[in-house]
Amino acid sequence: MVQISQNLFNEENLSVEKIKKIASLNPSIELLQNLFYKQNDLDIKRELISAIGRNSDNQKIYEFLNKEAFNNHYMDLVYQMFRTTLYKSKFDNRFVYLREKMRTFYDNEFMEKMYEYYTYRQNRIVKKTLTREITNHSLLVGDNTETLLKINNEQIQLIFTSPPYYNARLYSDYKNYKGYLSAMKKTLLQCHRILEDGRFIGINVSPVITKRAGREFESIRYPIHFDFHNILIDAGFYFVDEIIWIKPEFSVPNRVAGYFQTKMPLSYKPNCISESVMIYRKNAPFLLDKNIKKYDKTLKNDNEIDSTNCWYISPKADKYHPAVFPEELCEKILKYYSFKDDVVCDPFAGSGTFGRVARRMGRVALLCEQNKIYADKLKLEGFNEI
Ligand SMILES: C[S@@+](CC[C@H](N)C(=O)[O-])C[C@H]1O[C@@H](n2cnc3c(N)ncnc32)[C@H](O)[C@@H]1O
Repeated sequence: MVQISQNLFNEENLSVEKIKKIASLNPSIELLQNLFYKQNDLDIKRELISAIGRNSDNQKIYEFLNKEAFNNHYMDLVYQMFRTTLYKSKFDNRFVYLREKMRTFYDNEFMEKMYEYYTYRQNRIVKKTLTREITNHSLLVGDNTETLLKINNEQIQLIFTSPPYYNARLYSDYKNYKGYLSAMKKTLLQCHRILEDGRFIGINVSPVITKRAGREFESIRYPIHFDFHNILIDAGFYFVDEIIWIKPEFSVPNRVAGYFQTKMPLSYKPNCISESVMIYRKNAPFLLDKNIKKYDKTLKNDNEIDSTNCWYISPKADKYHPAVFPEELCEKILKYYSFKDDVVCDPFAGSGTFGRVARRMGRVALLCEQNKIYADKLKLEGFNEI
């Protein structure tokens, strides 16, 4: 062991960098532990745990972790300790025991994800390359929970859709909200199955309201996106981002007029100019880089970017369909979440805006639509029924 210079080992002004330097000099584990107990700075403490974990005295590391991992530390420190049990468990069964003890004690989602990633890497699971089976713009006519069964697993690289809004328009007619959500979940389970591991799904939803049955009754407003979060998670996706689509105020229904007349507190109802675009990723035990690495660098995007999650886009009206996407929204989603030649799917295609934009942007579109009138129009536009 090298003698550590007094200058480096000045407890008053330690930093993460200094801990790294000290650790590289192969100090005794006692010295590192001592520093750990004296320090309050979280980053320094975390670096010390990492240094302790790299020490060769497994017995002492085991004793340290067996005590400190359950000693009410900040979770950031616990995660670092758990990381040590993962790497050490490969060679030493005491750390398998500790790892499992921590998993049971914390029952923590972040640790489970670490465990999943670690196991995946250790087992060096090499997935066979998937052959892309959908090579032409295609259409599935009927209820997507049934028609999507025709598509094999992991054939799609991006899903973007605007599901039927519960009772908001003529075409959505569910007995109750619970039934609506369970129908949506059935579709999401199919979406999960056909989407390639680690790829994205975008769902455009916003709250809807049921009309009052009479002046003596209150309406119900449904925060659909809150409930979609739960069914997306249940279906095997995890939350990545929320894009807020913002429309000009003149384009949305006026809700604030009543308040303007009375100015009475409690009667305030703002004009809703935003819709949510929920961005989720299909669970995968590997980093996004693995998905990106499959593509050639020449496929990178141009310099124009939306640097915030607020996208200002005017809505679009259509004489055939009551709720169409503006093309610009589809363009941005396709640009940021898919590559050229990817197969992209809209399971609730409606007039097929997403499919048309995808085709123009060099992606292969798979559309699903159960309404025969819309489906027939899509066939005329070159989306071939499969
Ligand atoms: C909100 S609209 C989508 C509009 C679309 N974004 C556009 O730009 O035209 C939803 C569409 O989903 C269709 N739909 C509803 N339930 C369906 C199901 N189970 N399977 C397939 N299509 C369905 C409806 O007929 C409707 O056209």
